[in-house]
Amino acid sequence: MSEVIPIVLPPALPPVSGLRLAGRGCALLARTAGAALVLGPLWAVDRVRLGRSPAQARLARRLVRRLERLGAAYVKMGQMIGSRADLLPAPVVAELARLFDDNTPMTRRQFDRQWRAALDRLPALSRLNLSGRCLGSGSIACVYEASDDDGQALAVKLQRPGIAATMAADLRLMTVLTRMAEKLPQAGGAPLADLIDYMNRALYGQIDFVREAAHTRALAANLAPLPGVVVPQVHDELSDREVLVTGYLEGLSLEAAAEVPPAGRTAAAATALAAVGTMVFRDGFVHCDLHPGNLYVRADGSVVILDAGYCVDVPDSIRSYLATFFQYLRKGDGVRCGEIMFDSSLNGGPRSGRPEFVAEIAELVAGTTGPDHRFEMAEFGQGVFEAQNRHGVHPPSDFAFPLMSLMIAEGTLRGFWPDLEMPDAVAALG
Ligand SMILES: Nc1ncnc2c1ncn2[C@@H]1O[C@H](COP(=O)(O)OP(=O)(O)OP(=O)(O)O)[C@@H](O)[C@H]1O
Ligand SMILES: [Mg+2]
Repeated sequence: MSEVIPIVLPPALPPVSGLRLAGRGCALLARTAGAALVLGPLWAVDRVRLGRSPAQARLARRLVRRLERLGAAYVKMGQMIGSRADLLPAPVVAELARLFDDNTPMTRRQFDRQWRAALDRLPALSRLNLSGRCLGSGSIACVYEASDDDGQALAVKLQRPGIAATMAADLRLMTVLTRMAEKLPQAGGAPLADLIDYMNRALYGQIDFVREAAHTRALAANLAPLPGVVVPQVHDELSDREVLVTGYLEGLSLEAAAEVPPAGRTAAAATALAAVGTMVFRDGFVHCDLHPGNLYVRADGSVVILDAGYCVDVPDSIRSYLATFFQYLRKGDGVRCGEIMFDSSLNGGPRSGRPEFVAEIAELVAGTTGPDHRFEMAEFGQGVFEAQNRHGVHPPSDFAFPLMSLMIAEGTLRGFWPDLEMPDAVAALG
C-alpha cells in the first residue's frame, strides 16, 4: 500500500559490533540452558511435593527473577506475556505482575551513582528532598518520592545504570534472529523482521527521557478533555535524558482497580477505553505500552496513564484506515472489513484470492461481533492474524502499533476485573 506514510519512529538502534552480539548471544544461551537445567528439576520436585498450582507459582517466581537478571528487553517481554491474564494460570499471572511495577529496585550503590551523575548534569535537582521511598520500579527505571522547596510532592524517575548498552545489544540480536526466522517456511512469508525492527526501535526510544517528557506533555494535552483521565505533569527544568521528574500521583497500585465499587467498574473501563480510542482514532498519537504498571485505575475510578516513552505517531492515512475499519466492524460488515484488509496488505503475492480471504474475515466478524457476542480485541486479533497467515495476506508493520496498543490495554482491563462484562470495546473505541 504505497500511499501509506510510515510511522515516525525514533532513530535506528546504535551499531553493535559483531563480536559483542556473538558474546551476548552466547551468554544468553548459556543462561537459558542453565535455567532449564536448574528450574526443570526444581519444578518436578515442587510438583510432587506441593501440587500443581504452588509448583507453577514457584516456577514463575524463579523465571521472573531470571528474566530480571537478563535485562530490560526481557522484562518487557515478560510484561507483554503477563498482560494476557486470560491465557495464563492465575498463579503465573500473579508472579508476572511483579514485572509491571515491582522489579528489584536499584541497589543503594547504583542509586547513589546515578543520582550523583544526575546532580552533576542538572544542579537544579539539588533542591529536591528525596524521602527515600521507592514508588515503583520498572524495567528501565526506578521512581522515587520527593518534594521541592514549596512542599510539592514529586516523583523522580531515575534510569537504571547500563540500560542503553544492554538493550541495544539485546534488541539488535532479536532483529538478527528474526531476520533468520523470517526465511523459514513456517513464517509463511510474514514480514516479521520489519515489524520487530520497528518495535525494537520504539522500545529503545524509551531510554531517552527527553523524548518521554515530550510524549507525556503531548498525551496530557490530548487527553485533557476526557473526564477521569490523568497524565502526570512533567517538570522539564528538572529532567534530562536519564532523569524525569513529574508530579506525584497518589493511589497507584495494581490492587486499586479491585477497590472500585462494582457499580463503577463499567464506567471506569469505558473511561480507559475512551482514552485509548482517542489516542488511536482521533489523535494518531498512541501509547503502546499500556500494561498494568502504566495504565492504572484508581480506587475512585479515575484512570492514570504514565510512562509514555513508548508512543508512536500514527500517520493520518493509517489512522483513517483504522477508523474506517472499526466503523465497519461496529456495523458487523465483515465483507468490507475483509476488503479493507486485503486492499491495504503488502504486495507480496497473497496465496489466496480476494474473495476467499474476504469470506473468511466476514465469517470471523460474524462470529465475534453482534448482539450475541462479547467482542474481545485479543480473540479477534488472533483470528485475523491466523487468517492473514493462512492466506499470505500481510499487513504493513505500521498497523501493528495501534492494534497492539488496543490489545494490551484490553488485556490490562480484563486482568483488573476478570468477571466484568466489559463495555463493548468496538463501540467504546469508535
Ligand atoms: N508520577 C508518579 N507518581 C506515583 N508513582 C509513579 C509515578 N510515576 C511512576 N510511578 C510508579 O513507578 C513505576 C515505574 O515507573 P515507570 O513505569 O515510568 O518505569 P519504567 O521503568 O519506564 O517502566 P516499564 O517497565 O513499564 O518501562 C510505575 O509503574 C508507578 O508505580
Ligand atoms: Mg512502566
